[in-house]
Parts: sequence; C-alpha cells; structure tokens
Amino acid sequence: MIKKFLFLLSLWCSQVVADNTLEVLIPREEIHQKIVEYADKINQEYKGKELTIVMIMKGAFVFVADFMRELKEPAAIEYIRCSSYSSDTVRGELSVYGLDLLDLRGKDVLLMDDIIDTGHTMNTVVQMIESMEPASLRTCVLLSKTARREVDYQPDDYLFHIENHFVSGYGLDGGELGRGLPDVCYYK
Ligand code: IMP
Ligand code: MG
Repeated sequence: MIKKFLFLLSLWCSQVVADNTLEVLIPREEIHQKIVEYADKINQEYKGKELTIVMIMKGAFVFVADFMRELKEPAAIEYIRCSSYSSDTVRGELSVYGLDLLDLRGKDVLLMDDIIDTGHTMNTVVQMIESMEPASLRTCVLLSKTARREVDYQPDDYLFHIENHFVSGYGLDGGELGRGLPDVCYYK
C-alpha cells in the first residue's frame, strides 16, 4: 500500500516538474510549413542539379529527414559529426569526424545543421568544405540563435530565429535526451 502511494507520488512529481520546465517554443505544424516553403525554394533553385546534403549529426537528423522528403530532384545524403568538449567557462576545440571520408569536389553541397549558436561549428565546417573544392556550397540551419554569436558568420538560410533559450526536441538534445520530442521546446 505504502509502496503504491510512493509510486503514484513519484509519478505525480515527475509530471509536475516536466510541466513546469518544458514549454513548446515552435510547434510541429509551424516547422512543417517552413520546411515545405524552404524545399520549394531549393527545388526551384537547384532544378536539374544533383544536390549533396551534408548533415551535421546528431542534431540535424530529424530536420533533414523531413526536408529531404519534400525535394523533387534526387539528392545524395552524407553525414559528419561535430563535437566540442566545453566547460561552462572554457570553449574546447571543435572536433569534426567523417568529413575526410567524403569526396565533395565538384558537388553542389547543402550543409545542414539543427542550430547555429556561437557560430564556431558552421564557420569551421564551411572552411573545411570550401577547401575540398565543391562546385557550390550553401548552408542552412533550422534555428538561428544570434544572442551568443562569437564569430562573424551567417548561414545562407535559417528557418527560425530564436531568442537566447536552450532548446530541445525535433532532433536537438538536452544531455542527449529529448531529440524525439516532435516540437522545438525550451526549458523555462
Ligand atoms: P555553435 O558552434 O555554438 O554554433 O553550436 C552549434 C551546436 O551546438 C549545434 O550543432 C548544437 O549541437 C549545439 N547547440 C547549440 N545551442 C543548442 C541548444 O539550445 N540546444 C541543443 N543544442 C544546442
Ligand atoms: Mg549539433
């Protein structure tokens, strides 16, 4: 009996905590609408061309999966992984994995990530891809958070600008969790 009470209490507590901390920032319908509009633009501008999408894992996988299914021309998909080991005060060096395995020479590349924050990830990867001599390079992020930008880099396209929130869901994680949430959410 006591065990059952404690179990129900813990369930109730976790629900209260969850409700108080996670809020929907961008609902799935809005994301879908923007993706359809963006894919229309890419469909027109790359008509007759073969696009090579390079996605930055893991955060971009949901965004890219939805975007790709709106494309009219066949597109190739490649992935790389980026991580930087940072503490609260010190920014660690960015490690890029998998780019050396790709042959992007002469390709029309679309580099996609979930979010641009300080800008270091995009800025570094763009320089690395440019040195691989693609025919063209365009960059797109789902979210642009400008408040903490540290490098002078703007992606060619972004679908939403957001304020200085830490967000999770739709592929983005908080401590590796939350990527499966269907909406972009923020911690209050
Ligand atoms: P940047 O190098 O600071 O622009 O950071 C870009 C990377 O940091 C993204 O690819 C994300 O993985 C991660 N990131 C930045 N802000 C957030 C956030 O609010 N939620 C989840 N991941 C984030
Ligand atoms: Mg990322």
